[in-house]
Formats: sequence, structure tokens, C-alpha cells
Amino acid sequence: MADLLLGQVLSYDADPFAEGIAAARHESAGAVLVEGGRIAAVGPADRLRAAHPQARVTDYGKALISAGFVDAHAHYPQTAIIASWGKRLIDWLNLYTFPEEMRFADPAYAQAVAERYLGLVTAHGTTSACSYCTIHPESVDAIFGAAATRDMRLWAGKTCMDRNAPEGLRDTAQTGHDQSAALLAKWHGRGRAAYVITPRFSPTSTPEQLAAMGALWAANPDCLMQTHLSEQTDEVAWVQALFPQARDYLDTYEAHGLLGKGGLYGHSIWLTDREKARLAEVDASLVHCPTSNTFIGSGLFDMDGLKRAGLRVGLATDTGGGSSFSMLRTMAAAYEVAQLRGRALHPAELWWLATQGSARSLHADHLIGNIAPGMEADLVVVDLASTPAIAQAVTRAADIWQAIFPTIMMGDDRAIRATWINGKPVAA
Ligand code: GUN
Ligand code: ZN
Repeated sequence: MADLLLGQVLSYDADPFAEGIAAARHESAGAVLVEGGRIAAVGPADRLRAAHPQARVTDYGKALISAGFVDAHAHYPQTAIIASWGKRLIDWLNLYTFPEEMRFADPAYAQAVAERYLGLVTAHGTTSACSYCTIHPESVDAIFGAAATRDMRLWAGKTCMDRNAPEGLRDTAQTGHDQSAALLAKWHGRGRAAYVITPRFSPTSTPEQLAAMGALWAANPDCLMQTHLSEQTDEVAWVQALFPQARDYLDTYEAHGLLGKGGLYGHSIWLTDREKARLAEVDASLVHCPTSNTFIGSGLFDMDGLKRAGLRVGLATDTGGGSSFSMLRTMAAAYEVAQLRGRALHPAELWWLATQGSARSLHADHLIGNIAPGMEADLVVVDLASTPAIAQAVTRAADIWQAIFPTIMMGDDRAIRATWINGKPVAA
């Protein structure tokens, strides 16, 4: 049976960074028709009600119906260590992250955290994520298995490391390649799963391992490849010391077949002009992780400059280097980071980044990240007056953007009225 969802509906005709806020389409008394897991129609409520009298109606009143949030970079195994105090990147990895990732040798623990993580993100309105796993193949099985039971479109891959990580968290160039290849064969394209080739970052892979990952990508060019790039200045200096021949950090990937369209480069803060030009030339995706960048003290991503240079940019929590599971909180941090660089991002731009921008960075914007006929019905319904603080601020709103912005800045999981995944509401 078809479902007809009523509320305010927000969708996009184009990228508002390129086309301005007229690229956003807002229907104040709107409706979304969902049938067979897909969006069948979108438009004014009265027209869709008349055209589809048999549909089961769910009236969300003045709540906002949007494409579900897409988190383009997360580490689900870091769920339990989110908000760990006091360290910058390298010490944070060694003190908090690696010991926690070690626990994923136990498949039961991996399964428990995968379930907990997906429960948390769907409660925050996130309907798709692209996650790192750990070195353990079982950690990949755990997240894809948990996503399959929820029917979620999910990207993930085994995080490969063969140096500068503790015993027990290292593979080799060969085993990293072979285990990744086996997981790719098992999961890629199975239901809504997509395998992502995942070398953690240049400091934790030998040139041999980077080359093996590059060969795997060359053999599977329809897969995405994810890694980290230029997050902190100490890290950039370390990469320079480890790869004395490299022109820059990006070159350590490029020299090993790890630069290309379909490459996702998390953080990308301290880029040189050459790196920016090469990333743009190959149409790579950058992933902005603003709560992580402020929490770990990494730096201020140049959203304005990189979007103007035409780069694909996704938005992400970077759980658990990031300090929140919420893409609302993540939009707020993106706003604050851009403000510190002298650019006030418009709510239409922020919301686009959290939905279609992230989907585009994952090369999936034809499937998810927007409300349009034929797209998969992954939706979030957002209460724009979810707390007393937000409710009092929106009473003065003169337009939809003023009505949305307090929720972007102050909203959390209390703002999520409902999350629909593949055409079905997620049980609360
Ligand atoms: N660089 C390499 N690994 C990580 C990680 O797990 N989190 C963050 N924020 N940066 C990284
Ligand atoms: Zn990360």
C-alpha cells in the first residue's frame, strides 16, 4: 500500500552553492507519496490527496519532511569512545582509538556496537552512512549485517594498517589486500551495501600496502576508496618524514593509485594549491568533518574556496573523533567553522550538504539525498520547535530558512519526529 506523508517538504533542484537558494524547493503544505520503497510523487498536499485517495496518510503537521541525512565519513567502532578528553590526533588515536578498535577482534562485541551505532544514528535522522570498520573482517560483517536488517544503504570497508599501529591491529600488504578483496566480493552490491576500499591513512600503511590498495581499486573501479588527508599539521609533517620523495601528502596516495574520482578524502584541511588543483582535476570528493575538526583541534576547512573551485564536498560526523552523532549538530559546526573563515553558510547550503552534498560525494545522488520521484524513500521528519529554546526562537520566523536555522543550531535527536528507511518508518 502507498503511504502519503503530509508536512512541510524541502527538496532541491540543484546545488545552492552554485545556483543560489532558489535551488531549494519548499512546499509549506506538501506531501510525499511513497510506494514500494521509492518516492512516487511530491507536491502540494491537496493535489496528492485527491490523486491518491487510497494511500495511507500520515500527517506530520508543520514538521519538515526532508531527504534523510547522509553521513559521509564515520568510524562506527569509535561509538563508545566518543567525547574522549584532551588529546590531539596522533595521541588521541594511540590513547583512545586503537585500544577500542582492538576489542573488535571479538565478533560479538563488533555486532553489539554495530547495532548500537545504527540505532543511535537513525534516531538522529541519519539514513545512510559511510563508515570505516577496524582491521578485523568480522567488524565489516557486523556493520553490513546490522544495516541489512534495517534495509539501510550503507558504505563500509575494512580499515587497513600495516605499520605505526599496535600488534593486533596490523595486517600486511598482502593480507590487507586479500581480506579486503574477499569482503568486497561478499558485500559489494548485496542489497543496499557498498564496499569501500579503506587504507586508514598514509602514516599507518607502508608504500607496499598503499600500492596493494591501489591495485585493488584499479581492479574494482566501481568501488569508492576512502582515507584521511591533511587533518592536522603534525600529521602532515609526519607524512613528509615517512615519504621523503613525495611532493606532498596527496602525492603519497597518487603515487600508489589512490587518487581518483570515487576517492573520498576525509578532513582535507591543510591542502597546498597543487593538492587542491589535482583533487579538482580528478573530481575527487572531500569530506568535511567540522565537529571533529574543532574537537580534536585540527583546523578550519575552507568550504567556500573548495566549493567555488568546483570540488565535491560531503558533510560528516567523523564519529568518534567528531563529538556528535547528529547531522544537525554537524551542520551547526560547519556554520561556525565557515563563520571563523568569514563566510556565513546559508541554511539552504547547510541542509544541502547534509543530504544531497554527502550523497553526491558518495556518487549516490541519483539514489538518495533528495526528494524526487524515483528516488529511494529515505526520509527524515524534523520537528522545528522541538525544545522550549527552539520553539521560542522560531515564533518570529518570517520564512522557512528562519524557521529551520534554530533547529540547525540547537537541534538534536529530540527534533527527529520520524525516520523512514527504504519506504518504511523506523520503529522508535
Ligand atoms: N586519521 C587516521 N585515523 C583517524 C581516525 O580514526 N579519526 C580521525 N579523526 N582521523 C584519523
Ligand atoms: Zn575519520
